[in-house]
Amino acid sequence: MFVDYTFSTTLTLEQMYSVHVGQGLSCEWISFRGSKMSLPRALLEQLWSLFLLLWYCLEAVILACIPRSMRKRKSVVGEIVLVTGAGSGIGRLLAQGFGQLGATIVLWDVNQAGNEETADQIRENGGKAYEYTVDVSNSEKVYEAALKVKQDVGDVTILVNNAGIVTGKSFLDCPDHMIKKTMDVNINAHFWTLKAFLPSMIAKDKGHIVNIASLAGLFGMNKLVDYTTSKFAAVGLHDALHYELVFSGKAGVKTTVVCPFFIDTGMFSGVKIKDPLLTLPLLKPSYVVRNVIDSVLLEEQMCVLPRHIFLGVLLKYWLPEKATLHIFRRLGFDECMSSFVGRGKRD
Ligand SMILES: NC(=O)c1ccc[n+]([C@@H]2O[C@H](COP(=O)([O-])OP(=O)(O)OC[C@H]3O[C@@H](n4cnc5c(N)ncnc54)[C@H](O)[C@@H]3O)[C@@H](O)[C@H]2O)c1
Repeated sequence: MFVDYTFSTTLTLEQMYSVHVGQGLSCEWISFRGSKMSLPRALLEQLWSLFLLLWYCLEAVILACIPRSMRKRKSVVGEIVLVTGAGSGIGRLLAQGFGQLGATIVLWDVNQAGNEETADQIRENGGKAYEYTVDVSNSEKVYEAALKVKQDVGDVTILVNNAGIVTGKSFLDCPDHMIKKTMDVNINAHFWTLKAFLPSMIAKDKGHIVNIASLAGLFGMNKLVDYTTSKFAAVGLHDALHYELVFSGKAGVKTTVVCPFFIDTGMFSGVKIKDPLLTLPLLKPSYVVRNVIDSVLLEEQMCVLPRHIFLGVLLKYWLPEKATLHIFRRLGFDECMSSFVGRGKRD
């Protein structure tokens, strides 16, 4: 079959890419949305685009070489930070940490006693704290409480979606109501809090959304099917929201998603790690919170903990399935949930 590619610097791009096939057929195989661009101009744009791509990669490599301690951090003095699930674990420590940095803290939790305890601790250390008993899985309660926060404290400028629950059973043993609850607390609640607090951030083109997901938002885990699903959704929400904000000209509203391995808070009480030397030890809550706050102050997009595990995320999509399964077994992921107790039985 005879194909004639017509190249001429005087032709428009659409003409240039017209493929004239023998037997009188002609097909336009690339559309340039009707733009009339000369060949030198198009080549120049391609080169510029390639240069920008390389420049952004180089910039990232240079940034990665600068020690984190030397990088510029933003201040949160006077910011209004709302933490969901502030009555225990990571939420409590994050609330205390941001309080120590001079932010006003709004604490939400369904556990009234735990939430009040966190608020008292912040106030004892000279910080400002306002606690509210809220079930974040209930959209109406979230909107009601958000209105109260606006009246009592002001516009929330940093939102930390942290509240979370886990069932910890094989998929077919998960009762329907627990699957629904897991999705309601771990992901649907993010929609309600975002709807309540994002508009004022967008109006000012300033703010920060922090979603506490999990490493289970990047890797599937057995006996954590419902939890993993909710955490993958939290990572997806973060990703899509980030692009929506940037592409609508609201890049001043920052987003950070946090994906930690198991943390020693009690939520995953009983989880057995095969060999802490060979595999990953449970993370210390203080290490996690220090790194999360650091990522927020540095306005990082993603905080995977421990940091080196990010390599595993890249490998997962490159390695063959059998190799991935082998690594998962070697790390003890196949059995780690078999001794899970969680908060349900312990507390
Ligand atoms: N602990 C881990 O190993 C681990 C690992 C990765 C990610 N995470 C995530 O980190 C976050 C914090 O976990 P944690 O270890 O501190 O757990 P935690 O159980 O100590 O704290 C969770 C808090 O959320 C609150 N909460 C639960 N349901 C709620 C609701 N409907 N409304 C309001 N508050 C509610 C609880 O009362 C509790 O205070 C969770 O999102 C969890 O999924 C935990």
